[in-house]
Amino acid sequence: MSKNNIYIETYGCQMNLADTEIVMGILKNNGYEITQNAEDANVILINTCSVRDNAEQRIYGRLGNFKTLKTEKPGLVVGILGCMAERLKKDLIEEKKIVDLVVGPDEYRRLPEYLNVAFNGEKGIGVKLSRTETYDDITPYREDGLQAWLSVMRGCDKFCTYCVVPFTRGRERSRSLDSIVEEIKVLSKRGFREVTLLGQNVNSYNDNGSDFADLLSACAAVDPKMRIRFTTSHPQDLSDKLLYTIAGKENICNYIHLPVQSGSNRILKLMNRTYTIEHYMGLIEKAKKIIPDVSFSTDIIAGFPGETLEDHLMTLEVMRQVRYDGAYMFKYSPREGTKAYKMEDDVPEETKVKRLSEIIDLQQKISHELNQSLIGKEEIVLVEGFSRKSIEFLSGRTDSNKVAIFPRSEKIKEGSYVKVRINGATSGTLFADVVEVYPETGENLHLTA
Ligand code: SAH
Ligand code: SF4
Ligand code: F3S
Repeated sequence: MSKNNIYIETYGCQMNLADTEIVMGILKNNGYEITQNAEDANVILINTCSVRDNAEQRIYGRLGNFKTLKTEKPGLVVGILGCMAERLKKDLIEEKKIVDLVVGPDEYRRLPEYLNVAFNGEKGIGVKLSRTETYDDITPYREDGLQAWLSVMRGCDKFCTYCVVPFTRGRERSRSLDSIVEEIKVLSKRGFREVTLLGQNVNSYNDNGSDFADLLSACAAVDPKMRIRFTTSHPQDLSDKLLYTIAGKENICNYIHLPVQSGSNRILKLMNRTYTIEHYMGLIEKAKKIIPDVSFSTDIIAGFPGETLEDHLMTLEVMRQVRYDGAYMFKYSPREGTKAYKMEDDVPEETKVKRLSEIIDLQQKISHELNQSLIGKEEIVLVEGFSRKSIEFLSGRTDSNKVAIFPRSEKIKEGSYVKVRINGATSGTLFADVVEVYPETGENLHLTA
């Protein structure tokens, strides 16, 4: 076994997935190998999330599992990366004896140094946040594939009152437009067909006067066969220019993740979301006018402090009006250090659970109806591979990120685009027939998979 085998597990948002690839890039440059198997590793890293309490509890559970491994292999180094490292800092080391290393999101460049400290039997702690670090010059390590995540900015300056992210990720800063475009060129040459540009609020992107719409145009121009997606847009800063840019480029997906959080202006104010529901609905209307066939997804929090039944009903009403394609729905979880933590968490647990399940049920119903309404319609699908259930069927995603399943054929390759006609739908999946196969450069599907 090599001395430098790293095993890394990732939790939390896509930004953490992208960061793990940056971490692997840095470690590979320093002579480390990546292993898929924790038992083979002499370093185990967990890239963690702090956004809700249950996210952290999961990590503590995992640390419990690794304890056994560490007992069997005393030299094993166990490290915490990501948002929990930043939130809890050295408390993690003091409370969890098996943790040797705590490195926050802006200190990954120095990870090899901290690892050396840990190899020498001391504790490696690097939790400084930076106003400038964007890992601009680091090439992330990515396996070959079709879809890539790419962080275009880091941090968040919004300070929504419930949220730990501004504390764990620090201040907003943008990566340079040129370096992003260069990375996309390389991905295109490697056969990637979809890039998702990531930031906690991509609409605040700013590289010496180039805004997010400029960045999106530049990225879309690299390769017309490459789909460009992005997340997340804060409703306060979504500009008309951005909407026109999305409408104007075929390969920018007509899909906007626009978290509403609550349908009540009173609650939005307590959350410091800085928009009203009227402003939000205005944006939705405008986007629908400017971008034909645009679809939306959202994030919703149930049971924020002070939320009344009336506030909750307003959230359901907004969902009915917008008719989101999809939603990420959460129970409010108090986070130490945030402003909302000082508010009384006065919505009883069973009420939170009830409201959340009403929100989930409504979304399920809307998704089902929206998908049913697509029956008979044609969609362009990027072919990703075999369907999970049968190798007689292929699977891909539509422009609006819906999974479509259709019969396999020798002519259709992974990474190519096909036109399909929808013939059936559930709330999560579309079923379709193939209408046309577009000539493509993609690899042959591995027919024995
Ligand atoms: N920057 C993104 C989201 C980051 S966190 C945005 O502003 O939309 C992802 C989602 O987690 C948030 O949109 C919110 O819905 C949810 N979330 C964040 N903090 C939370 C908390 N303390 N309790 C419950 N949900 C929370
Ligand atoms: Fe958190 Fe608000 Fe920033 Fe999103 S915009 S990361 S919810 S503080
Ligand atoms: Fe979680 Fe940090 Fe992302 S708290 S949601 S991993 S930014």
